[in-house]
Amino acid sequence: MTTPIRRRSPSGVAVLVSLVLVVGGAGDQRAQAREDDDERCGEIPSLPPPTADWPRIRSEVGRDPLTELIVAAMVSRMTLAEKVGQMTQAEIQSISPAEVRQYHIGSVLNGGGSWPSNDKHATPSAWLALADAYWDAALAADGAVKIPIMWGIDAVHGNSNVFGATLFPHNIGLGAARDPCLVRRIARATAEQVRVTGQDWAFAPTLAVVRDDRWGRTYEGFSEDPAITRAYAAAYVAGLQNAGEDDGEHEGKGEDRSVRRLRGVLATAKHFIGDGGTAEGRDQGVNPSPEAILREVHGQGYFGALGAGAQTVMISFNSWTNEQLGIREGKIHGSRYLVTDVLKGKMGFDGLVVSDWNGIGQVAGCSNFRCARALNAGIDVFMVPAEWRQFIENTIQLVGSGEVPMSRIDDAVTRILRVKLRAGLFGARRPSGRRLAGDAGALVHRELAREAVQRSAVLLKNNANVLPLARNRKILVVGKGADSFSVQTGGWTLSWQGTGNSNADFPNGETVLAGIRRVVGDANVTYSATAEGVDSFPFGPDSAVIAVIGETPYAEGVGDIGRTRTLEHAARYPSDLAVLNRVKGRGAPVITIFFSGRPAYVNKELNRSDAFVAAFLPGTEAGSIADLLFRDGERVGGEHRHPVGDLRRALRDRLWQFRREHGVNLNRHQLRVRPQRRLKQRLGCFHFVQQFLVFGELADERKNKSRFIGTRAADREGHSIAHTATSALMCGCGS
Ligand code: BGC
Ligand code: BGC
Repeated sequence: MTTPIRRRSPSGVAVLVSLVLVVGGAGDQRAQAREDDDERCGEIPSLPPPTADWPRIRSEVGRDPLTELIVAAMVSRMTLAEKVGQMTQAEIQSISPAEVRQYHIGSVLNGGGSWPSNDKHATPSAWLALADAYWDAALAADGAVKIPIMWGIDAVHGNSNVFGATLFPHNIGLGAARDPCLVRRIARATAEQVRVTGQDWAFAPTLAVVRDDRWGRTYEGFSEDPAITRAYAAAYVAGLQNAGEDDGEHEGKGEDRSVRRLRGVLATAKHFIGDGGTAEGRDQGVNPSPEAILREVHGQGYFGALGAGAQTVMISFNSWTNEQLGIREGKIHGSRYLVTDVLKGKMGFDGLVVSDWNGIGQVAGCSNFRCARALNAGIDVFMVPAEWRQFIENTIQLVGSGEVPMSRIDDAVTRILRVKLRAGLFGARRPSGRRLAGDAGALVHRELAREAVQRSAVLLKNNANVLPLARNRKILVVGKGADSFSVQTGGWTLSWQGTGNSNADFPNGETVLAGIRRVVGDANVTYSATAEGVDSFPFGPDSAVIAVIGETPYAEGVGDIGRTRTLEHAARYPSDLAVLNRVKGRGAPVITIFFSGRPAYVNKELNRSDAFVAAFLPGTEAGSIADLLFRDGERVGGEHRHPVGDLRRALRDRLWQFRREHGVNLNRHQLRVRPQRRLKQRLGCFHFVQQFLVFGELADERKNKSRFIGTRAADREGHSIAHTATSALMCGCGS
């Protein structure tokens, strides 16, 4: 392929760019003040009433006429090859800095488990060296306009590909904490971690509103309640982007005040749209929702994120199809209606749309590197990890043959440059010269993570108030999760699936076992992962057993539980049940800590436990759960509202959704919700949950306890209704 090179004087554009760097805008401090106003971020407001059409979203980041002028001037001076280069996103294992320069590449990414030089233990300076090399290469390209490159990274629970970074609870746990302020602080810390290693763009937050917990990405979503997802989306974007104040890292004097320079990193609202609503919870599957559900349930996170100023949206692998309803959009990557008419048109999104990993290859009639339909649908940046060269070649051909109009290419490049300008990339220092770059200490946020772990833990059972435990008891710790960073951190941790990690891969952090030892002293702790051969342990009322069990790591695809398999934990992980069987009924109370990326049917485990804590996937600081278990009875943390009111609301929502989706009006006689037991609020830091069972249609659930209520409904009716009332709720019948 030959690249036509036009030689021009860069001066006109350069003058305009420096203009945008000096003209002042007054919004910055205001935005910062707003963001620091904790009063405003703590609430989860009810959703606004449903609308008849997709709402127009007013973004925190407004249009700036000067930016628009500069972008237009730049685009008018670019060759087609330069433009298509900007639209191309390659993976770091598949592209060298020299190629970035040669092909005018606009962005790179590293996928899950992809590190510089393929070194899992790469240091911040190794990350920065590669970031600098790409940066320098992009600016050394021979185009008329010098366009900085962006690097995107899956920093999805902290900077989760990076050795030594504190990793926070996965989003499902944050959902249980019900605190947008906490989420904003975590996102801000994540942005700091990303700046340490030199990336500009985080592929987070995931805004899936998960409606079938068999989906292997359930834990990446905050909640199945769209009100939580919407509030968290705004908080997360604000925290990650942390727009505002000048950080003095730009060259030249008279610093930029007119673009909304980011002190953090660019956020990504993903995956647009409907990923959490696929039939049977299949990853990359078919979302059959009517449009109203797509908008009112699955769209809410985007309304929150775009309002808060998100500049990038990643398209989802799923399809939107329902023959009966006449919906035939197919893969969203090829849906001009959703990407252009809805997102860019009706919702007014003026940032960039990025495709997911080889996502265009799934569009009917396309391959991983040739897809007129995705181009014409309105995707701007193409995540074509390995076959990026062919993508460039084919896209140039598609424009040449008229299958893709030049106006579409110009729209894409306009959006890309607009985002780069707004982010302050033009004129920025090389990645290694920026605020926090290389500061290994800024990878570590232990206190914040410990707070998040404690606040996302949900107490499901506490018979006879066995918790909190006195510190002088003899403690037997059992279960495969007790001393395993791998189990407590889950997928998207150093590696893509979270597999292949050992405790040595986590220099900063604490397992539950280590936390218990810290709190009660080594001498009081006996440990056996399998609970075999623990007969010498002094079982009795003065001792206690802490069992740490749960799911083992998984991510996309691999984590799906297919239609015929069950959400019953005992069936999926019989060895966990065996551990509990070895320690129950021996005179010492059993306290179970349950790690999982999804709500599960845990009746058998509950019945073998005196106390039961659902801790989701808490990340590197799981040890702080020990501080909750042995609290000497005093309250820690702030006030915690009993979530029962919200649970009722969530169930009402579910009935509403069911009615709209299936035209069936389930009245109270058909579907009855009964609170099972009220747990006394004694441990300030736990969220107390009432156990709900859904009767009526689902009544035989009580007889057949092997299945989770949502799954049962799905199996029998071909659709699902109930699930948990919030992501904080596990279901079970108590003791
Ligand atoms: C995932 C995205 C992720 C991307 C890059 C895809 O497979 O769906 O969430 O951002 O890979 O790793
Ligand atoms: C990458 C992930 C990506 C996935 C998509 C993996 O090899 O590491 O980032 O999401 O492929 O299939």
